Amino acid sequence: MENKIENLTDSVLAPPSGGVGGSIHVFAPATVANVVCGFDVLGFAVNEPGDEVIMRVTGKPGITISKITGDNGRLPLDAAKNTVSVSVQHYLKSINRTDIGLDIELHKKMPIGSGLGSSSASTVAGLFAIKTLLGDDTDPATLLPFAMKGEEMACGHGHADNVAPALMGGFVLIRSYEPLDVIRLPHPKDLYCAIVFPDVDVPTREARQIIRKNIQMKDAVTQWGNIAGLVSGLFMNDINLIGRSMKDILVEPVRSMLIPDFYQMREMAMELGAVSFGISGSGPSVFAFTRDEETAKRITHKLQQHLTGISIGSNAYVSTINDKGPRVL
Ligand code: HSE
Repeated sequence: MENKIENLTDSVLAPPSGGVGGSIHVFAPATVANVVCGFDVLGFAVNEPGDEVIMRVTGKPGITISKITGDNGRLPLDAAKNTVSVSVQHYLKSINRTDIGLDIELHKKMPIGSGLGSSSASTVAGLFAIKTLLGDDTDPATLLPFAMKGEEMACGHGHADNVAPALMGGFVLIRSYEPLDVIRLPHPKDLYCAIVFPDVDVPTREARQIIRKNIQMKDAVTQWGNIAGLVSGLFMNDINLIGRSMKDILVEPVRSMLIPDFYQMREMAMELGAVSFGISGSGPSVFAFTRDEETAKRITHKLQQHLTGISIGSNAYVSTINDKGPRVL
């Protein structure tokens, strides 16, 4: 069945005149949200993993989902309940094109509930697919409110720190939610990201429920100093400043309890030369920034070895920051 994806070539087929037609195959990347100190306001995209959507225009108005792979049966085929179709439907409504009929295949290429923006990657792939099929060449960032609807459905909160970098690529700051103000940040080109996903389930919805609702002023001061330090480090290309700013005293102390041997893994990563280490999104994935690919690989190897030793399976990815975001395959 997977062959079907390969067989669909590079693919926006020309739409018939006067209407929309054809099919498209799109990839959207995984993302690391929060970037340790920037809860709900910072995120970046990676090269892999990512999800794929194949979208076909059908003759009959409405959206169907004909196939989902790689989800172990966890995601709904019902288009009224799936974040991809629901976000696409919101977009179609906003442009008065609910006359269009679409069929969606979703191919999950990353674990669900991993803290790598799994639902965001799927949603963004769907939105980018319909936007491209319609020949809408506005900035992909205009799709952000629709992608946030998908997040709201997936975990009860429409945060943008996964969907914004998945859509726009690169490193992104959500300066404000109301009104939405999203800023693309520069970053050192030679920054590598080592990601390890320990195979334990941490649903974002639950990981959001356990965090503190009130914080002390002195903690807020520490946190916003670090966020400003990280953003300054990105602008100044100062990897040491980036590293020493990536500290989180608000969320990590609570969420780290859901991650096996989190502090031991940090120690190992730092000993091997990581610039920084922390939870990716709401976890359980963890990530480290490094100055080179070799160090990133040594870190993923060591952490995976450790997790195997405590009988926990894992996946690992090494990537630079993905500046492109979604792309047509
Ligand atoms: N900022 C979100 C959270 C990201 O930490 O809950 C979820 O991946």
